[in-house]
Amino acid sequence: MKNRLGLRHFFLLGNILLFVLMIAAIIKDSRHEWEGYQKKYYELAIAETQDKLAAAKTDAEKDQVAKELKFWKSQHVEIKQILVPKLDRVDRCITCHVGMDPLTNPTGTNDFKEQPFAAPADEVHRLHPAEKFGCAVCHGGQGLATTVAAAHGEVEHWEKPLLRGVYVQSSCEKCHTNVEDLKINGKPAAPAIIQAKGIIKENGCIGCHQIRGWGGPISVDWSSETADKPLVRIDFTHTGLPKDQWTLRNWIKLHLIKDPATLVPGDPKAEFNAEPISPSGMPYFAMNDSDADAVTAYILSLTTEEIPKEYYVYAPNAPEPQFSSPEAHGKFVFFKYGCAACHGPDARGGRKNYNYQNDVEPNLRKVVSTYTPDELKKKIQNGVQVVGKKDPKGPTPPLYMPAWKDKIKGKELDDLVAYLFSIADKQEQW
Ligand code: HEC
Ligand code: HEC
Ligand code: HEC
Ligand code: HEC
Ligand code: HEC
Repeated sequence: MKNRLGLRHFFLLGNILLFVLMIAAIIKDSRHEWEGYQKKYYELAIAETQDKLAAAKTDAEKDQVAKELKFWKSQHVEIKQILVPKLDRVDRCITCHVGMDPLTNPTGTNDFKEQPFAAPADEVHRLHPAEKFGCAVCHGGQGLATTVAAAHGEVEHWEKPLLRGVYVQSSCEKCHTNVEDLKINGKPAAPAIIQAKGIIKENGCIGCHQIRGWGGPISVDWSSETADKPLVRIDFTHTGLPKDQWTLRNWIKLHLIKDPATLVPGDPKAEFNAEPISPSGMPYFAMNDSDADAVTAYILSLTTEEIPKEYYVYAPNAPEPQFSSPEAHGKFVFFKYGCAACHGPDARGGRKNYNYQNDVEPNLRKVVSTYTPDELKKKIQNGVQVVGKKDPKGPTPPLYMPAWKDKIKGKELDDLVAYLFSIADKQEQW
């Protein structure tokens, strides 16, 4: 008996020892990672300064460069961090991205090409000094972490992975109004957001979705439901993605490049539910990568994350566009309310509606001339809540004609109807 107890203790002790060793190894590993980058940075800086010293011509120049060399040689390898109390942030990114540390490199630029060493001369970083903004407010990631994977938040189930490339533009909207009008050296500072807004308008996404409460009733509000969606609320099982790629960004982007009915297949034959559920009613847009990235970045920008007031930059609203005719205004109204969502950008219909008697939405060009203007106005204001099913036992078709009630009225409604009549097919032999 005594002997067996002893053996158990021995095993327990062994396990504890193993655990301690493992933690020690992890700590050592992560130290090793950032220390390695920082050491390498100083080596690069020293080598570059030595070259500069060799090339220096005047005594004054030599003196200056020698001072620089002394400075680089005196650097200690240490955790570096930027404290931004107003944003409640502690960002240690500059522990590896040393070139962007305002203390060791006040110019914020260098000639190194490789990351994490490169600090490119760019206006965005100059306009938002590290001391005041830190890094993660724009880039996401985990400010406190000190391994590459953890700091970049590119680990399973971290909700805010690093924003790279065009994705960084999804942060601008947190603080700036009218992001489309932001310019750097005369060029748009957030071109992906401009690109996205154009695509969203053209395709009428807003006829089905809402942005801050504004839009159609078919699907979710991107600002309160999608932009901050917790990963546990997403069913990734039909995406075909490996688990380490189960991110909100990928979920949104897949909706734009794949047929959404494959991502959200529903249960049309009521195999798992009491009632049949139709697959996603969202059209298949088959966007290219650049468009899909831009739209995804825009949707992510609609986060409800709060930023302290002093960081807001207000810009006046763009002036209301002017129109040359009632029909031109009516076309604007058609896109403003997202009629294109279901009837297509050219109002020729063609959007699939699962188990709908006519399969696809009406081609407005064909039908408007069967209405009088007043009947057409009534149709738009009252909508059609229940649409005919093809298979009576099948699921309710996901799309219906929303009742716009008095959301669209007065001159907007008059001009919308004028536009629809102006594009109606003239021959009526159908
Ligand atoms: C432990 C070291 C380390 C830390 C800490 C770290 N990074 Fe990095 N970073 C790297 C390395 C290495 C690369 C290049 C490899 C890569 O792109 O993943 C990189 C690349 C990047 C890039 C991509 C540059 C490109 O090519 O587009 C960005 C942006 C970036 N880091 C931002 C951050 C931000 C913001 C933080 C803090 C939240 C951070 N990093 C913290 C090591 C680090
Ligand atoms: C105001 C928002 C903002 C802040 C704050 C910010 N960045 Fe950036 N950063 C950007 C933008 C925009 C880009 C350009 C992305 C692109 O187009 O590729 C960028 C690019 C980068 C890159 C890639 C550069 C390249 O071209 O290889 C790195 C690395 C980076 N940032 C690191 C940092 C670090 C470290 C900090 C904190 C000291 C920081 N950033 C703070 C907006 C910001
Ligand atoms: C945390 C808040 C915050 C974020 C995020 C942010 N900015 Fe800014 N930005 C500011 C503040 C504050 C100023 C300074 C305004 C001033 O000078 O009055 C500024 C200034 C600017 C300016 C120069 C002044 C102007 O209005 O033209 C530009 C351009 C700019 N930001 C672009 C961007 C872009 C592009 C992004 C996204 C990559 C971005 N900002 C993200 C807060 C932010
Ligand atoms: C969410 C999808 C959706 C949106 C957005 C939408 N519609 Fe419809 N619309 C439908 C459906 C479905 C029908 C067919 C209903 C039925 O079966 O009677 C329809 C029918 C119509 C009809 C009657 C056509 C006929 O067959 O007689 C008109 C006119 C019309 N829509 C105009 C509009 C206008 C104008 C807008 C924008 C303000 C709009 N719709 C937005 C789905 C939509
Ligand atoms: C005809 C209606 C309709 C139109 C038009 C439409 N969607 Fe959707 N969308 C839906 C429905 C229904 C869902 C919910 C089922 C699903 O996830 O596919 C959805 C889901 C989404 C989701 C996932 C949201 C979440 O929180 O899980 C994104 C992102 C999205 N849509 C983006 C877009 C974009 C961008 C456009 C325009 C280019 C667009 N949608 C146009 C009906 C529509």
